[in-house]
Amino acid sequence: MKHISVLLNESINGLNIKSNGIYLDLTLGRAGHSKEILKKLDKGYLYGFDLDNDAIKESKAVLDKISNRFSLIHSNYKYFDEVLKENHINNVDGILLDLGVSSPQFDNPIRGFSYNFDSPLDMRMDNSKGITAKEIVNTYSLKDLSNLFRNYGEEKDAYKIALNIIKQREIKPINTTFELVDIIKKSKSNYELKKKGHPAKQVFQALRIEVNNELNSLKETLDKAIKYLSPKGRLVVISFHSLEDRIVKQAFNNVIKVIGNRNDDYSLPSKNNLSYKLVNKDVITPSEKELNDNPRSKSAKLRILERIK
Ligand SMILES: C[S@@+](CC[C@H](N)C(=O)[O-])C[C@H]1O[C@@H](n2cnc3c(N)ncnc32)[C@H](O)[C@@H]1O
Repeated sequence: MKHISVLLNESINGLNIKSNGIYLDLTLGRAGHSKEILKKLDKGYLYGFDLDNDAIKESKAVLDKISNRFSLIHSNYKYFDEVLKENHINNVDGILLDLGVSSPQFDNPIRGFSYNFDSPLDMRMDNSKGITAKEIVNTYSLKDLSNLFRNYGEEKDAYKIALNIIKQREIKPINTTFELVDIIKKSKSNYELKKKGHPAKQVFQALRIEVNNELNSLKETLDKAIKYLSPKGRLVVISFHSLEDRIVKQAFNNVIKVIGNRNDDYSLPSKNNLSYKLVNKDVITPSEKELNDNPRSKSAKLRILERIK
């Protein structure tokens, strides 16, 4: 399925793009947002990052049609500062993070992100390296699996599911998404199974977060990104579940209360010399129209931070 960019106008407006500015799209995907950024750049420059090689290849073809004022980097976004240092860039005018997986990843039956296809349990955004969901499911202890499902999936039946995984893998390894879905379904009461939403959604979310170390990368990156903003520079983040949104909210709140020397470690609260502000007091969510056009936008939340000086 084609990726439909979420909160596209809201996030592009949120970046407040200057035609000669430097912008980072840390989650390139299929360049839906990058395309709009690049169109607005005249003397400016765009750096796009993605862990997924397909995203880099396909986005390059899309962006080549607009201009050559961009570079794409196949890397975890948490290393964005290394790329900036290599290019002698100290500050940027805007940074975008549109978190999670793209539709082409989710809908690709061989990637293992979706409980709707029977496929190997993989879930790596960069499928050239790193631990897979299969390795986690077949090697983590009962305690670790149960904590994982509870903490990253907010899954009520975390312990029961973990226990049934352990029992099943003593008979034979769990290899596929559908084998895991079966175990999850068997671990739930009829009452739980009748509830809205797929019964495997929370466990799949938890595994995906663990496989890609998503929350740690996000925390690390937000703290760095905030420090790289130029005066009037904007950090725009779209999150898709409460664990992500909590991290974004916390990272923004940490600095809007704080004094403004950029070399400070943000440890001196001050009410009158603020360096950063929230552009919108309330979180931005998709319009009724966007929700109708793209149901996948349902849980999206947009937050925007601006460096004042
Ligand atoms: C929701 S999609 C972005 C869609 C994009 N904004 C568009 O409109 O086409 C998220 C993308 O971020 C990438 N991604 C997720 N975590 C990443 C990380 N830590 N480093 C680099 N890319 C990451 C995924 O591979 C995926 O392609």
